[in-house]
Amino acid sequence: MKLIVLNDNVPSKGLKNDWGWSILVGRILFDADTNPLVLAYNSKALGVELKGLKFAVLSHWHYDHYGGFPYIAELNPGLKLYAPLEGMAMAMRWGFDPIPVTSPGEIEKRVYTSGILDNFEHAIGIETSSGLVVIVGCSHPGVDRLTKAVLDASGYKKACLVIGGFHSPPLWRIDNLAKMTELIAPAHCSGDVAKEYVKRRYGEKFVDVRTGTVIEV
Ligand SMILES: [Fe+2]
Ligand SMILES: [Fe+2]
Repeated sequence: MKLIVLNDNVPSKGLKNDWGWSILVGRILFDADTNPLVLAYNSKALGVELKGLKFAVLSHWHYDHYGGFPYIAELNPGLKLYAPLEGMAMAMRWGFDPIPVTSPGEIEKRVYTSGILDNFEHAIGIETSSGLVVIVGCSHPGVDRLTKAVLDASGYKKACLVIGGFHSPPLWRIDNLAKMTELIAPAHCSGDVAKEYVKRRYGEKFVDVRTGTVIEV
């Protein structure tokens, strides 16, 4: 399965970039960045088709994660969007078939949600041939807590990869996280301190992410 970072805070030559997060996992879109134009431009430049998605997931209702969703709904009318409850009416107006995420569990075959933590944000785990890949948005409730909840929901003891925004965590959260996953890919709002810490302390686990990064799992 291919993971393609459509936008990350870190730019890449030949791609557009802004503050936001959007990643394609197989034919599942997780979060949709801030700006539809960035998604449109980068998907073309990366040779990725955003029409015909299987379903989409929104981690939490912050603009740097949902800004591009009206564009995604335009390309995929009636697409299922798994998201926290509060934005359902808006998602419907955009043209989605919104499905509120509440408790932890399997939402689609081999796809698990952490359930909504702190009334705000969820993360998902996707079963791949290499194991469970955990995708997070901003990790406001804590990347270790979200990952633990995804592991519990899926029955896995350990993830093969955790990727997404870690929200400048206190370093003990990264120590917790390191025990739960083979690979760590801090992106989006993780911050330089957290990235450097993972690189230095868990070098063998560190995966560098930027706009346009492709990871094969
Ligand atoms: Fe964010
Ligand atoms: Fe956020």
